[in-house]
Amino acid sequence: MTQQTPATLDIDKDLLRFTPKQIIATQTADAHQFTLFGGSRGPGKSYWLRWYPVRKLLEYATHGLRGVRWGLFCEDYPALKDRQISKISVEFPEWLGVLKDSKEHGLAYHLAEEYGGGIIALRNLDDPSKYMSAEFGGISVDELTKNTVDTFNLLRGSLRWPGIPKPRFTGATNPGGIGHAWVKDYFIDKIFPSELRPLYDEFGFVPALPDDNPHLDTAYWQMLETLPPNLAKAWRHGDWSIFAGQVFKEFSHEKHVCKYGDVPNEGVNIRGVDWGYTNPFACLWGRKELDTGRIWIYREAYTRGLTDRQQAQMIKDMTPPDEKIAMTFADPAMWTKKNAGNIVTDTAKEYGTIGVPLSRADNSRVNGVRKIHRLLGNLPDGRPGLMIAEECQNLIKQLQNLAASGKDPEDVDTDQEDHCFDALKYLLSNVKDGTNEKPALRFTHPLEGVKGL
Ligand SMILES: Nc1ncnc2c1ncn2[C@@H]1O[C@H](COP(=O)(O)OP(=O)(O)OP(=O)(O)O)[C@@H](O)[C@H]1O
Ligand SMILES: [Mg+2]
Repeated sequence: MTQQTPATLDIDKDLLRFTPKQIIATQTADAHQFTLFGGSRGPGKSYWLRWYPVRKLLEYATHGLRGVRWGLFCEDYPALKDRQISKISVEFPEWLGVLKDSKEHGLAYHLAEEYGGGIIALRNLDDPSKYMSAEFGGISVDELTKNTVDTFNLLRGSLRWPGIPKPRFTGATNPGGIGHAWVKDYFIDKIFPSELRPLYDEFGFVPALPDDNPHLDTAYWQMLETLPPNLAKAWRHGDWSIFAGQVFKEFSHEKHVCKYGDVPNEGVNIRGVDWGYTNPFACLWGRKELDTGRIWIYREAYTRGLTDRQQAQMIKDMTPPDEKIAMTFADPAMWTKKNAGNIVTDTAKEYGTIGVPLSRADNSRVNGVRKIHRLLGNLPDGRPGLMIAEECQNLIKQLQNLAASGKDPEDVDTDQEDHCFDALKYLLSNVKDGTNEKPALRFTHPLEGVKGL
């Protein structure tokens, strides 16, 4: 890219030099509020993601909107440095502006005053809550699937700028990662939670493949051509149907999520509780239909920072008085003895004093995973064995996002947010696990010598 300032320069032809696919991405982003570009490795996503804001800021300047701030985000600082900062420092011509760290804007690229003084703030998302009250005239996120839907919602809240009625959000990504499911839902399948449905037409997706980028070098192509089959499907061919390591690949919003009103009134109610204080505590309410065995999860409690008794009180308050609960299965760790002042007690006892009696749950993660797999499949009536009311947002999110343990593909990775999965696993304690194995039965007190049976 030339460092000379020509008297007149064509922004598109001489500065951005977008590939045809990047031009389509630009048109799509101009026409929608939220645009996802890419969905495979190498089509020039990160390049487009940093240059599109330049184009937009220059365009705003021509309409008299000066000094607009655009946020360019990556999931953490090393990624930001590697994918964007280092590229900006060599790719953006010196006459266009300057990359600098300032008190007011942090690390940012400042377009020259002659070009409107727009700012591209370079930010990482290791703690998204930092941006709670920030304001941006546009936001771009590289590798969007590395982020949860909560981060997306938080960033959406920061999309506002005086004079810009529709501040743009652009994302670029490969399939896979903790945010795979929601990104696929919103941008590719266009399945939205009810509150987002009014924005249905504002979500655009421009699929692109490595073949769309004439600038890829041989080493990159070699990497792409030698990927193992699963990764090749996702990265080389942009197949979003599965991602490596996703535990419940069969879970789908369309099939398994229902309205609260669809939950049948008849059945046996069971609760599952996963204790937490610093980590969230989770309680799920489920109803088992007696004729089909289908389980409907119809309510969830999910919060942190509550004492044992407050948790029990919350469960009690959320259960209507006329709703009979047959069993409340809970984490066996809740029976661990602890000292409270001079009294030895346990969480289960504390729950009991509030009127929430607990039963010890089956704690095996692998059993839980098997049961959920079985229930996600269809029953003889052609509908899944597990249905979840859309109010149970945390459970839905976790079932979509759970990744397998690196050591055992049948187990889940315990480093992720899995408290609702645990509560569901407990709730299903008395459900068959999908193997046909029946446990061997024995008595603690043998009946030897007892006559007359
Ligand atoms: N319009 C363009 N003009 C010049 N070079 C480009 C253009 N688009 C992309 N490139 C170059 O192609 C290479 C790959 O682009 P980029 O890193 O943006 O792809 P990506 O889709 O983000 O890849 P990955 O999946 O690895 O993150 C980079 O060297 C980038 O500078
Ligand atoms: Mg990239």
